[in-house]
Amino acid sequence: MYIKKLLLNNFRNYKNEKIFFHDKVNIIIGNNAQGKTNLLEALYMMSIGKSFRTNRDQDMIMFNEKNAYFKIWGVKENSEITIDILLDKNQKKTIKINDLKLRKNTEILENLYIVIFSPEDLKIVKEGPEKRRNFINRELCQIKPLYYHNLYKYSKILLQRNAFLKEYQYEHYDQNMLDIWDKEISQYGSLLIKNRMDFIEKLNIISREIHNNITNNEEKIELVYETNILDQKDMLDLETIYLLKLKKSRKMDFFRGNTSIGPHKDDIRIMVNDKDVRNFGSQGQQRTASLSLKLAEIKLIQKETGEVPILLLDDVLSELDHLRQKYLINSLKEVQLFITTTEINTLLKEHLPDHYIFEVFNGKVIK
Ligand SMILES: Nc1ncnc2c1ncn2[C@@H]1O[C@H](COP(=O)(O)OP(=O)(O)O)[C@@H](O)[C@H]1O
Ligand SMILES: [Mg+2]
Repeated sequence: MYIKKLLLNNFRNYKNEKIFFHDKVNIIIGNNAQGKTNLLEALYMMSIGKSFRTNRDQDMIMFNEKNAYFKIWGVKENSEITIDILLDKNQKKTIKINDLKLRKNTEILENLYIVIFSPEDLKIVKEGPEKRRNFINRELCQIKPLYYHNLYKYSKILLQRNAFLKEYQYEHYDQNMLDIWDKEISQYGSLLIKNRMDFIEKLNIISREIHNNITNNEEKIELVYETNILDQKDMLDLETIYLLKLKKSRKMDFFRGNTSIGPHKDDIRIMVNDKDVRNFGSQGQQRTASLSLKLAEIKLIQKETGEVPILLLDDVLSELDHLRQKYLINSLKEVQLFITTTEINTLLKEHLPDHYIFEVFNGKVIK
């Protein structure tokens, strides 16, 4: 799977650009604020129809313009694929695949698999649980469209439940109403938890091996999914236990005005040598952990979908030491790479196979 060509019209700071890519390695060089990440953002949009840095599509339309149009030409399983997206200030976005308009925008999933590795990913290891939940949601949405659907349903009902908890008092509320929502929440929530546990288990097996390799067997990584619904082993009837716990926490939930348990509160603990790397890891260990996770993610997508994903490396090479840079590049021989950087180092040049170099300056790309 690779991308051949990209067309950008009024996308962020790109007025009108057409770029032809190398099928293996593309290096995008430029000073800060010239448009390097913008370019990767446009590519990433083609995998899930959403940006990795904003939830507001409008932000990607060039300032003072009404719409943005961008399109890619790619190759997947030896056949050509085109995807184009129109963002409009006054309308819902339109997505076309091979010139056919999608009925539902989620149909864009399962076409191109793109993984991004950016300094943001360090936050997955370092910062609060929300970052890790976002990570797992994003990955599962990409490989499991049904997860996307369940997550959407769950979030919607959760919002309704929370609004209800805020509006009424525990002493007098419509029990039937809440019973219905709790039943639905425990159904969808259980599915999310099961999928996430399954994903973490698979990711564990792959990342363990990668992490051993990167650290010369000196460090061992272990991911643990932590849910507030039940203990790890107690999977017998997740839905029943979930519902019981929701009932039990009802009084407190009314008091707080929100739902205190469920996958929206869960976390993934990342352990290195049996210690939580978030609290006890050195910066180097945290970086290595995030690198292992990313590489494992690529392998997992490959395993689950049979497709080798495309990898975007946004400004991360300079954050890794030479050993890890080399490891990263050497382990990605089959993958089409897009690497942004402010300067090209000699190590990179020596170790990279055949590649194209692009220079970005103020929304213009020169090969
Ligand atoms: N909607 C937009 N319209 C025009 N320019 C934009 C828009 N959004 C961001 N920019 C510009 O894009 C530049 C940042 O691009 P970015 O790709 O993040 O830079 P970098 O090369 O450092 O990765 C800034 O100059 C910013 O003003
Ligand atoms: Mg950038």
